[in-house]
Amino acid sequence: MAAAARTPRARRRTAGVGARTGSGCGDATVRVLHGDCLDVLPRLEPRQFHFCCIDPPFNTGSAKRSVRSGAALAYSDSFGGLDAYIEWLRPRLQAIHRVLRDDGTVLVHCDWRASHRIRVLLDEVFGERRFLNHLVWRYGLGGSSPRMFARKHDDLLWYAKGDAWWFDAPRVPATSQRLKGQTKKATDVLEVPSINNMAKERVGWPTQKPLALLELLVGACCPPGGTVLDCFCGSGTALVAAARLGRMAVGVDQDARAVALTRRRVR
Ligand SMILES: C[S@@+](CC[C@H](N)C(=O)[O-])C[C@H]1O[C@@H](n2cnc3c(N)ncnc32)[C@H](O)[C@@H]1O
Repeated sequence: MAAAARTPRARRRTAGVGARTGSGCGDATVRVLHGDCLDVLPRLEPRQFHFCCIDPPFNTGSAKRSVRSGAALAYSDSFGGLDAYIEWLRPRLQAIHRVLRDDGTVLVHCDWRASHRIRVLLDEVFGERRFLNHLVWRYGLGGSSPRMFARKHDDLLWYAKGDAWWFDAPRVPATSQRLKGQTKKATDVLEVPSINNMAKERVGWPTQKPLALLELLVGACCPPGGTVLDCFCGSGTALVAAARLGRMAVGVDQDARAVALTRRRVR
């Protein structure tokens, strides 16, 4: 399996985050930090992360809630409008830009509410030329509307910091009759089922993403032994994916319950 990198430099492995003070998982090390990422990221060394994969609040205008084992878990997802949301996100993306390696990439998970504005914002912070992909995560669950087409996908915007980056195309089951039983390279439309409410992997955090999706992304965008950052980590799905795939990871969340949940999960 060939790693598709622009330059040999992009393939080099480096140690990522300094001292290994977090939870070990096989060869990988995971650290989980508590706080607003705008405060936490400036305290980290610059140019250390290979892949930043974030799933920030989507600006839905209401609190995101989930109830499990009697404990209500919720975080605010209200910013007072789209302009205010974009102004909130801007300095956080700039802080991410600083801690990415020169051959690092960022992937921002969002949806129809803000993806058009986040793409423009990423153009500003990373540069139009650094756009790599607009991935579509197509999922099945959820309702439908009599008034419009049912919204059944999220948007994942992937940008590079520089002119080299690491990529290893994931393989997915082929669907054509001719290739039945074989695999093919994934396209920019990713078909991964969302987690249903009864799924074993569900840990109770609202908006928890499927591990299969994060494993696909981390495996494709972070080299083995490299370091992943998720500074809106929630229940830590990206960190678990990183650890399972032998990548190091740093997670940040401003909610102490999310940090505790992630630490338990990666242990
Ligand atoms: C959509 S959830 C992430 C869910 C995660 N991908 C998972 O699989 O569980 C967004 C997270 O961002 C956190 N958050 C919101 N604002 C933040 C900030 N300024 N700094 C760090 N975390 C923040 C919230 O507490 C919430 O856990």
